[in-house]
Amino acid sequence: MNKLKSDEVKDFYENWDVSKYPDYLKLLMEFEENLIFKIISKDDFFKSLFDNRKNTKILDCGCGFGSFYDLTRDFDTIYLDFSLNLLKKFKIEKNKICANIEKLPFKDGIFDSVLCINVLEHVDFKKAISEVKRVLKTDGNAYFIVVNSDSIINDEIFVEWKIPHNLISKSDFNGIESEDFKIEYINSFYFLHPFFKVFPKLILKRIIDLFFKNDEKISKILKFKGQFLICRMVKK
Ligand SMILES: C[S@@+](CC[C@H](N)C(=O)[O-])C[C@H]1O[C@@H](n2cnc3c(N)ncnc32)[C@H](O)[C@@H]1O
Repeated sequence: MNKLKSDEVKDFYENWDVSKYPDYLKLLMEFEENLIFKIISKDDFFKSLFDNRKNTKILDCGCGFGSFYDLTRDFDTIYLDFSLNLLKKFKIEKNKICANIEKLPFKDGIFDSVLCINVLEHVDFKKAISEVKRVLKTDGNAYFIVVNSDSIINDEIFVEWKIPHNLISKSDFNGIESEDFKIEYINSFYFLHPFFKVFPKLILKRIIDLFFKNDEKISKILKFKGQFLICRMVKK
């Protein structure tokens, strides 16, 4: 992404205030977060890291204000974002770094795992992925989550951000796969149709609960058509 666009993204996130969003939008964002939390915490590679959690180095790359802190708090985790304002809002004191994913300030091969959640849409996809790969150890795994360009859901809330924002597809991940960086797992999730937003908060909450419980089943039927994609890649 060129410098002008990158400045626009930075400005947007420096002023990002989710607390001002309407209730239904907070519910949808929470729904997405809960799904991500469930999928990653049940994932075999992630579960295998728990045995030696204190010595396992994780990078939450583009951590924002720390929505996924509870997923990584037991590990030796570094939280990185290029918005100083969001890092300030993140409640922890230590292990926060302000930097750009396209030029990570780390030596090669030091992380067991990298989480990169809803960040690749704003950056140079190839550059960012090659940096994530560089800082991973051999056999280390990265989790990428993006807004899916092949989605049949297409909720404008996730699709039409007011800042440079490229949707990404399964074929984009296939395109960057190489001998030493392989896709281990790829799937889509989040099948709540935008229509349901018309319901009052309490009813919407119940509908979301139903979709939460059935997300895995729906994703088996509507393969790769959900609002978001999750891709886990291993460095060989
Ligand atoms: C949609 S938010 C996601 C935040 C967090 N991962 C989450 O899921 O709650 C996108 C994040 O990416 C960060 N970001 C965007 N471009 C970045 C870059 N070039 N380097 C590092 N962080 C970046 C933003 O500051 C923002 O915190």
